[in-house]
Amino acid sequence: MIGIGNDHTGYELKMEIIKYLEEKGIEYKDYGCGKLETSDYPLYAKAVGRAIQKKECDLGILICGTGIGISIAANKMRGIRAALCHDCFSAEATKLHNDANILAMGARVVGPGLAVKIVDTFLNSEFSGNERHSRRIQMLEDE
Ligand code: RB5
Repeated sequence: MIGIGNDHTGYELKMEIIKYLEEKGIEYKDYGCGKLETSDYPLYAKAVGRAIQKKECDLGILICGTGIGISIAANKMRGIRAALCHDCFSAEATKLHNDANILAMGARVVGPGLAVKIVDTFLNSEFSGNERHSRRIQMLEDE
């Protein structure tokens, strides 16, 4: 299950991504805001982050204007590794190396065509399972 969250700036891009998920038959839950709502991005980051913490979702996709605010908010949550990616190389690398559980993007940064390819790359990449990457991920949880 993919949890998807967005503020008002991310609404249109979210709908493009939902179209892709539906075409691929990928299950998702929409925690984001609707078109006409003004909104505060931390609310949606936390809703998707909580869904992952509670294992209601396996992965998340977060969208705000830049992707920055919403990824900062998500990364304050225990066990959440949100990667802000605007290219496919990073989307693959963050799964391989960081076992990222959230992909964040900026709707004012990427167009829908590239964003959908980034989502596709993220969802189709796997953590390497490599010992040194696992150790570093564990270190992220240290105070
Ligand atoms: C909203 O105007 C904008 O600040 C927000 O979408 C995001 O880009 C924050 O990081």
